[in-house]
Amino acid sequence: MSARSLIEARLTATTKTHEGRGTEQCPLALPHRVVLPSPVVARIRIGIDVGGSGVKGALVDTDAGKVISERVRFDTPRPATPDAIASAVRQVVETLGGEGPIGIGFPAVVKEGLVSSASNIDPSFIGVDAVTLFSGVTGREVTVINDADAAGLGESRFGEARNAAGTVIMLTFGTGIGSAMLIDGKLVPNVELGQIELGGVRPAEIRFSAKAMKLENLEWSEWGARANEFVSHVNKVFSPNLIVVGGGVVTKWESFASAFDPLVPVVPAALGKNAGIIGAATLVAGLSSD
Ligand code: BGC
Repeated sequence: MSARSLIEARLTATTKTHEGRGTEQCPLALPHRVVLPSPVVARIRIGIDVGGSGVKGALVDTDAGKVISERVRFDTPRPATPDAIASAVRQVVETLGGEGPIGIGFPAVVKEGLVSSASNIDPSFIGVDAVTLFSGVTGREVTVINDADAAGLGESRFGEARNAAGTVIMLTFGTGIGSAMLIDGKLVPNVELGQIELGGVRPAEIRFSAKAMKLENLEWSEWGARANEFVSHVNKVFSPNLIVVGGGVVTKWESFASAFDPLVPVVPAALGKNAGIIGAATLVAGLSSD
């Protein structure tokens, strides 16, 4: 629920309480000037972004869509087995403290908590119930979705894709390529555009991810040309209204943005590299302890 709808809900509730006592006695019933009886308490949740190279987390004000703590980061253990990742997630949660449910973005296909792909994590993750795993080590209620889906939801609720109509695609360039598709703000989960074949390479993320730039020692301009090829292809296939680029590379947007075809509607994630953390936290915004 947005801050505005939270205020409206509280206003409705308070107005009801005052029913029958006359509007003069109820300051909240004034149509234009709303005087809140006490400050609205934001719902703070932990959002975690499990990535191919780092397990990151922060406390998020889920009404404002803002990170309000230090960003905690631990290297993604190798091999990225269920036990090893679970222990990194536990460390992030212990460092951040607090209480309440946790939203987690995870770098694989996740259907109702079950992990069913493993491009950049240990294959032993396939078939693992990530919800049971992470709630077991943290002792918290946990919701798990694909990491790029979490980032796409973050951008759709608070970032570049806010109120965007039609098809929006979020692409995260990091160890792999993550993708999220939203239609009129509704997520189509587990779209895996990093797994397509492009330029004779399959999965395409081998050639077009940020990891490829590192492995092949590419200049930003060289990698930018690849990113443009990938993004232009996605644009050609889906004709989205907007393509939002996120992931670690987004902090260097100026270094490669000029490579994009000006006819492709591509923008950097407004939430930057925190889109996934924010999106994950908003997944559990409405759950318990409010
Ligand atoms: C995985 C996706 C994930 C992406 C980014 C890919 O290798 O298949 O599920 O979203 O990496 O982490």
